[in-house]
Amino acid sequence: MAGKRTFTMIKPSAVAAGHAGDILSMIEKAGFRLVAMKLVHLSKHQAGLFYAEHDGKSFYEDLTRFMSSGPIIAAILEKEEAVAEFRKLIGATDPSKADAGTVRKLYGISMTENAVHGSDADATAEREGSFYFSQLDRV
Ligand code: CMP
Repeated sequence: MAGKRTFTMIKPSAVAAGHAGDILSMIEKAGFRLVAMKLVHLSKHQAGLFYAEHDGKSFYEDLTRFMSSGPIIAAILEKEEAVAEFRKLIGATDPSKADAGTVRKLYGISMTENAVHGSDADATAEREGSFYFSQLDRV
């Protein structure tokens, strides 16, 4: 059975542009409950640790530089079938290929600056949530 939780980050360009409130509103209106949330400015090293699975790929340097360029909002979200439901809400990784009305279509600029991150599987959601939040931070 699919899990009830997923993990997201609102990326630096979307926070800097003042879209965090609108994106959080879309998330809540889609039926997700906020379990944990924080505003964080990652160092480049920390961004590299978070995206370690992509180390060595052509976009890794740009991605980690961008993700450490300003504050992000990290959050754990709860809903039935959370991972799949959230990926539907945010749309394709490349904003130009995302469906109309999705978060990335509305607020994404490019593959790297694609407004939000969403976990790709239950195990990833647990690992990514644990990167930012201890058990004590989750309600
Ligand atoms: P995200 O959901 O945060 O997960 C990994 C990120 O790497 C992804 O969103 C994109 O921002 C970025 N990414 C993945 N594939 C590519 C690519 N081919 N070129 C540039 N960036 C990519």
